[in-house]
Amino acid sequence: MFLFNPIGFVESPYKESSEIPKGLGVKHDAEGVLKVLPEFELGLVDVDGFSHLFVIWAFDRITGFDLTACPPSDNRPHGVFATRSPRRPNPIGLTVVQLLGRDHVRLHVRGVDMLDGTPILDIKPYLSSVPQETLRRGWLAEAEARKA
Ligand SMILES: C[S@@+](CC[C@H](N)C(=O)[O-])C[C@H]1O[C@@H](n2cnc3c(N)ncnc32)[C@H](O)[C@@H]1O
Repeated sequence: MFLFNPIGFVESPYKESSEIPKGLGVKHDAEGVLKVLPEFELGLVDVDGFSHLFVIWAFDRITGFDLTACPPSDNRPHGVFATRSPRRPNPIGLTVVQLLGRDHVRLHVRGVDMLDGTPILDIKPYLSSVPQETLRRGWLAEAEARKA
């Protein structure tokens, strides 16, 4: 067993899941704030130098999970680990956001897809070293091709 305590909470414009854009080609450009708890402020030193951050968070408004999921971007089921479904055995979310600025414990970001008040488990700088030509997009590429 692992027990994680939030390091902060998301201030998001989204109060309900239905407000969050979903589906193929959707762009997440909503702005929000990652509000880190004061006892962790020292941990934010030098975060300002990064353009993008990984935010690791908890789907705190989900109970239970399914091993297959039908994502809004496709009409076919896929294994949950091949999707970003919130209904997963460990309800952990991962979002890449653009860091717009920092005001003490408040990180102003663009690209939130979490509900207001979502607990943040961790923040890490976004660094991608995967060459574009080696990336494969699995069923998503097929779903996009079918819609084109
Ligand atoms: C498809 S998931 C993707 C989340 C993240 N980018 C990921 O890949 O882990 C995004 C959806 O999670 C749901 N969601 C957002 N915040 C949540 C929360 N705190 N608890 C439960 N569900 C949440 C909303 O329905 C939203 O549309």
